[in-house]
Amino acid sequence: MKKISNICCIGAGYVGGPTMSVIAHKCPDVKVTVVDINQKRIDLWNHENPDKLPVYEPGLSEIVFNSRGKNLFFSTDVDKAIDEADMIFISVNTPTKTYGKGKGQAADLKFIELCARNIARVATNDKIVVEKSTLPVRTAEAIKSILHNTGNNVRFEILSNPEFLAEGTAIEDLLHADRVLIGGDDTPSGQEAKNLLSAVYENWLPKERILQTNVWSSELSKLVANAFLAQRVSSINSISALCERTEANIAEVSRAIGHDSRIGAKFLNASVGFGGSCFQKDILNLVYIAKSFGLNEVADYWEQVIIMNDYQKTRFADNIISTMFNTVSGKKIVFYGWAFKKDTNDTRESAAIYVANLLLEEQANIVVYDPQVGEEQIYSDLDYLGTRSEEENRKLLKVTTDYMEATKDAHAIAILTEWDEFKTYDWNQIHDNMLKPAFVFDGRRMLDKAKMQEMGFDYYKIGES
Ligand code: NAD
Ligand code: UDX
Repeated sequence: MKKISNICCIGAGYVGGPTMSVIAHKCPDVKVTVVDINQKRIDLWNHENPDKLPVYEPGLSEIVFNSRGKNLFFSTDVDKAIDEADMIFISVNTPTKTYGKGKGQAADLKFIELCARNIARVATNDKIVVEKSTLPVRTAEAIKSILHNTGNNVRFEILSNPEFLAEGTAIEDLLHADRVLIGGDDTPSGQEAKNLLSAVYENWLPKERILQTNVWSSELSKLVANAFLAQRVSSINSISALCERTEANIAEVSRAIGHDSRIGAKFLNASVGFGGSCFQKDILNLVYIAKSFGLNEVADYWEQVIIMNDYQKTRFADNIISTMFNTVSGKKIVFYGWAFKKDTNDTRESAAIYVANLLLEEQANIVVYDPQVGEEQIYSDLDYLGTRSEEENRKLLKVTTDYMEATKDAHAIAILTEWDEFKTYDWNQIHDNMLKPAFVFDGRRMLDKAKMQEMGFDYYKIGES
């Protein structure tokens, strides 16, 4: 069996960048080139200051700096990288469609199709094309159709190799993956391609963790894995609402059910609602696919996970308003956290955006502090919603880099992201700074209720009455 020696990855985002850096790190004999049409992103990947990499992930900069310039390259020369590669990963974004048929649910595959057409145009020798992006089941069919009609006798093998990393732990997840999934045809050439990709991962992962399936199972499994994970969060969040009314405690309920090995303890943390670029998009996609096959009950079942998540975000904002005497107009509310989870600078679909939007509708004055997310990103997230003018967003919401200064004369603090540093703050000092009653709304269940109450806070924690 030949060996893969030259890999190209189209898309230098949150998946392409970290995944290819780990492959380059673990496979020093393989040349890995990550390409993107976004010049700014590529310049940041090539930046000499590790703090400037476009993706913040613990452990990422060390790995990039170890391999970059040796066998890891970041470039905008897409055609050259495609031409030179034996194996091409497609890792571009596949957002929810914002127009036309399937608007608001289906995955927008225009970037995927552009990549396929680019490969078809440039390739002069046989290639293995790997779907790394999350794609609707049967997308490989469309890619195949584009690639098989090039008329230049180049043979393509299409594999599905979805990525399961979670942001904030991407490097850990890649280095110690629970499993790698490789879907491909059962033909001799399909089997060979699967084995070649398998051999890349076998440089650091045990063979038993590399699962081979047909292409369609692999594509569908990725959507299903995210749907199951999100379903757990919505399930526990639905129960958090019940706990708040019954004096049951969500942490105790999570612990009690999680001890059942059939249920398991992970992913049972009640929160202000899940965010991130994947869960909502992939469930909507699953819903759309089910509906397109007339499976309406299946679609409704999964859609409920999103409905519950929206309810949780709204419930959190509504509780802030009602607790603060039914008005937040002109009141200063400090947001601790804007990222969709800790240890990432990614804000896509973050609950903070929606909670802020609801409070701004009530004319609250919000001040945001997040250790990794800057002003430009925060305003762009809010402006994207189109709820009010850009000027109004900037008038009502300010961004700060000083978490303590922000609390001066604040009416309330809302914790939206579970950054570890929030636990280490001098909460006595924060209490002194704030107007009284000093409200804290803990959307991440980070702080000790008894201690907060002892300090004098009016403290609300999701899932506890
Ligand atoms: P991203 O938006 O961070 O990165 C995608 C990159 O692709 C962008 O930099 C964009 O400029 C580039 N791109 C788009 N079209 C291109 C083209 N024609 N040629 C060259 N470059 C092009 O997206 P991401 O978060 O890395 O996600 C990529 C895929 O991986 C998605 O399908 C997503 O669902 C999936 N996924 C994401 C995660 C995650 O945690 N973010 C995890 C698993 C799977
Ligand atoms: C997810 C999947 O975990 C990963 O396998 C897939 O490849 C991409 O999508 P990601 O979105 O990066 O990863 O982070 P994840 O840790 O899954 O968290 C998603 C959201 O759920 C976050 O907002 C997080 O705060 C929230 N969450 C997670 C909870 O509210 N409670 C939990 O118990 C777990």
